Amino acid sequence: MSPTPPRAQRTDWRGWRAALLWFADSQHATPLHETDGLLVTARDADGTVRVQAVGNYASLIGHYPDLAVTHFAGHLIAPGFVDLHIHYPQTDVIASPAEGLLPWLEHYTFPHEQQFADPAHARGVARFFLDELMRHGVTTALTFATAHPASVDAFMMEAQARDLRMITGKVLQDRHSPEGLRDRDTAQSLQQTEALIQRWHGVDRLGYAITPRFAPTSTQAQLHGAGELAQQHPTVWIQSHVAENLDEVRWAHELFPHARSYLDVYTQAGLLRERAVYAHCIHLDDTDRRCMAERGAVAAISPTSNLFLGSGFFDYASADRCGLRYGLASDVGGGTSFSPFHTMHAAYTVARQAVGRAGLSLSPAHLWWQHTAGAARALGLDGVVGNLQVGCEADFVVLNPNATPLLARRSAQAESLAEWLFALVVLGDDRLVAHTVVQGETFKLGPNLAEDACVA
Ligand code: GUN
Ligand code: ZN
Repeated sequence: MSPTPPRAQRTDWRGWRAALLWFADSQHATPLHETDGLLVTARDADGTVRVQAVGNYASLIGHYPDLAVTHFAGHLIAPGFVDLHIHYPQTDVIASPAEGLLPWLEHYTFPHEQQFADPAHARGVARFFLDELMRHGVTTALTFATAHPASVDAFMMEAQARDLRMITGKVLQDRHSPEGLRDRDTAQSLQQTEALIQRWHGVDRLGYAITPRFAPTSTQAQLHGAGELAQQHPTVWIQSHVAENLDEVRWAHELFPHARSYLDVYTQAGLLRERAVYAHCIHLDDTDRRCMAERGAVAAISPTSNLFLGSGFFDYASADRCGLRYGLASDVGGGTSFSPFHTMHAAYTVARQAVGRAGLSLSPAHLWWQHTAGAARALGLDGVVGNLQVGCEADFVVLNPNATPLLARRSAQAESLAEWLFALVVLGDDRLVAHTVVQGETFKLGPNLAEDACVA
């Protein structure tokens, strides 16, 4: 927590005064808290705005005599949320009922995604989606695009214009998909992926993810081609779905009868490694969990989606026992909310339900960590986003615990940090997010900015 001495090559020095919440490190859900804190940010020589100091206001301010400080009295500054799995093209699919995953894909999701053949449509949805993420305090997301390469370009251009750290990829699906969404030529789908990696991966704050939709909609040739690309580009991410729904698991077994398990299809294709993120991971066994853990692949837990589609409950105890790493995700449009507070609340509910065993009562710090530092760690971005340690990129949220009468009343009665954070998790939503700050720029100005913030 010691201040970094100002250095001449840093510019745009800013101070942000409020209560602070962050994590001691990315590996553990150990919260650090200051009731009157100071976050100091500046632009480094490489152009990125990073945290230069974090800690108690009175202890730090003397080191920064000329600092312009914005004071968010009565507010809490916390790391920007990281959504480990979401589909930007499914923004308009949210809240579509179905009898389970496969009918939902067929009746709502695939027809909506077909519209992304039109680049103007993709650009418009990307714009709305990113605004919605900002409104909810999500500053980094690993998102699916669609099978159309232009859907990746549209998203990347919008994210780049906002200076956001975002990751996406063209969906690979060369079978069991409707015309207009199916890759007609497997080799071409892999060439398109390679071209998009070259165009976008590592440009500004953008990253590329090789994105086979799920095993049932890819031929073995496409999955193995994706695995070869993953080997050639080790810093590129991989994203897919696995073991979400029992009908889906049965279908995967029918299509790949020689695989030991559904997960094993991806293992055989070379798609399990660090930076590989698999959504859901509900119907796995311990061999699968250990295989993921050993290879560094992680689970994106999507509790609002799993509850909505009736898919099942993520097994936290088994994941922990096997060393499987994880983080939280909205999975919009299967998920029912963009709000990290709704997702954390649903994760708590899911952990309570553990079938056939005593349910867990996850601490609010652990839930919060799963959606910030823990999710960043799962992406291999620990120390980069999801935390407010010195050196982290300056993406954060300013929360107003008095945003609603009930939040204010309950916050006032909290007797410990844990009790207060738990109330925010259970009662919070987008009203709690007064401002989202990305790289020193405030994205959402709450209606009461003039009253709750002053520049000293
Ligand atoms: N499995 C394959 N595609 C999808 C999708 O779009 N959403 C969810 N939740 N599961 C999937
Ligand atoms: Zn998904």
